[in-house]
Amino acid sequence: MLELRDVRKHFTAPDGDSVRAVDGVSLALVPGELVALYGPSGSGKSTLLFLAAGLTRPDAGAVLFDGRDLARLSRRDAARHRLTELGFIFQTFRLVPGLSAIDNAALKLMAAGASRREARRAVLPLLERLGIADRAEHRATQLSVGERQRVAIAGALSNGPRLVLADEPTGSLDSRRAHEVLALLAAIAVERDIGVALVTHDPAAAAVATRAFRLHDGRLEPFAPAPTPAAEDATGGERAGAGARAPLGSPE
Ligand SMILES: Nc1ncnc2c1ncn2[C@@H]1O[C@H](COP(=O)(O)OP(=O)(O)OP(=O)(O)O)[C@@H](O)[C@H]1O
Ligand SMILES: [Mg+2]
Repeated sequence: MLELRDVRKHFTAPDGDSVRAVDGVSLALVPGELVALYGPSGSGKSTLLFLAAGLTRPDAGAVLFDGRDLARLSRRDAARHRLTELGFIFQTFRLVPGLSAIDNAALKLMAAGASRREARRAVLPLLERLGIADRAEHRATQLSVGERQRVAIAGALSNGPRLVLADEPTGSLDSRRAHEVLALLAAIAVERDIGVALVTHDPAAAAVATRAFRLHDGRLEPFAPAPTPAAEDATGGERAGAGARAPLGSPE
């Protein structure tokens, strides 16, 4: 479904230096798999997700979705792709401050043509699954940061995307909520047979991932974290390897 072919994106820093944010990355993601991407701050993780979403154009290489080069789509087709096939969880959430949690989560469905009522009805189960249904009518500004993060996740999943790109989706959550969100993303990948790529600092993510990579100087390398108690917990003590996956249900 998603294929990155030798993708490169360099930036020019204010002092004129070149920043090799993404420097020749190739990666193919198939439906049903969850790929975890690690890397220190500034290693190019967000840039890579923006490239994968077609939100940033590569300097070289290509990003293909179902074999179509995103850079060659018309503006209208690119917008449609993002609206109907993609779920992007932004690192900064991007909520509308004056809107309620449920209306924020419903925005994408409304943009795709649903009525406000339909869209709200459709996203309520996601808010429930993410443990924030009791905050549905709070304005975004009245939510805790972790609650905002979960509203952003509900919105990203609302349109039944075929590809979810998640930029540190557990960055503002406590370990229990983080575990629930990771389990939800892993379960959705299998249930809906969709691809999920998530950027994270959380070692527990590697335990629910089918594959994990580390970004280093704009390049991808395999990542195998040391087992942590959380990871042991998530896998029942087994390391996730090729094809291995923790048994996952809905978060309780
Ligand atoms: N528009 C830009 N112009 C110049 N440099 C940029 C631009 N966007 C990103 N960079 C640089 O590219 C590098 C990668 O940025 P990116 O946001 O992808 O990092 P990241 O791995 O997501 O970091 P973090 O974990 O802090 O979110 C950084 O050094 C950043 O300063
Ligand atoms: Mg980032």
